[in-house]
Amino acid sequence: MASHSTPCSGHRGVCTWWIAYTFDNPLRRLIHKPQKVLGNYVKEGMTVMDLGCGMGHFSIGMAGLVGPTGKVIAVDLQQKMLDILGNRARRAGLSDRIFAYLCQADDIGLEVSAEFILAFWMVHEVPDQKFFFKRLKSMLAAEGKILIAEPKMHVTAETFEKTLDIAQSCGLQCIERPDIRFSRTALLGTGAIE
Ligand SMILES: C[S@@+](CC[C@H](N)C(=O)[O-])C[C@H]1O[C@@H](n2cnc3c(N)ncnc32)[C@H](O)[C@@H]1O
Repeated sequence: MASHSTPCSGHRGVCTWWIAYTFDNPLRRLIHKPQKVLGNYVKEGMTVMDLGCGMGHFSIGMAGLVGPTGKVIAVDLQQKMLDILGNRARRAGLSDRIFAYLCQADDIGLEVSAEFILAFWMVHEVPDQKFFFKRLKSMLAAEGKILIAEPKMHVTAETFEKTLDIAQSCGLQCIERPDIRFSRTALLGTGAIE
């Protein structure tokens, strides 16, 4: 992991680490419990991805759910976020199953196969959502699922529906709308539309 010297992302419209502390704090463990949000989808031994992982609230939770035989691929475009995640993972004794990757805003740049992908409160920060969803689909294992959650305070219902239309045009169908606090959500799976 790199040093903690980078003060901000330098990426326009992207949540910086000091803003992330306003919602990723001890209270969050109560409102966004990883077991409650992800327990239906993330199981022991799975390879999963936390895309736009930020400081790793859900990466740490997913690492607990996949257990010692599973793997969490945590991806963000800010090194500072990954540094904080690295420290949290070490403190939690979960470093061995969390693999952190620094990506570019316009491309994730990974050739992996994940059984579950989480994109929590990050899709509205992505510059090209069509390209983004195509890449997500290419990284999804057969029968894999993607959970997207967007913050109600930043993303209107109309904008969220447009995002789902883009996902659908990339062959990702909405299967379910899980109830997650302060969020607009969709569980996506692969469909017939290409
Ligand atoms: C609002 S934060 C949410 C962090 C985390 N998902 C959570 O719920 O705590 C959004 C995160 O997505 C990251 N991000 C934004 N655009 C991204 C992109 N195109 N690729 C990867 N990460 C991105 C930001 O750097 C930031 O860490």
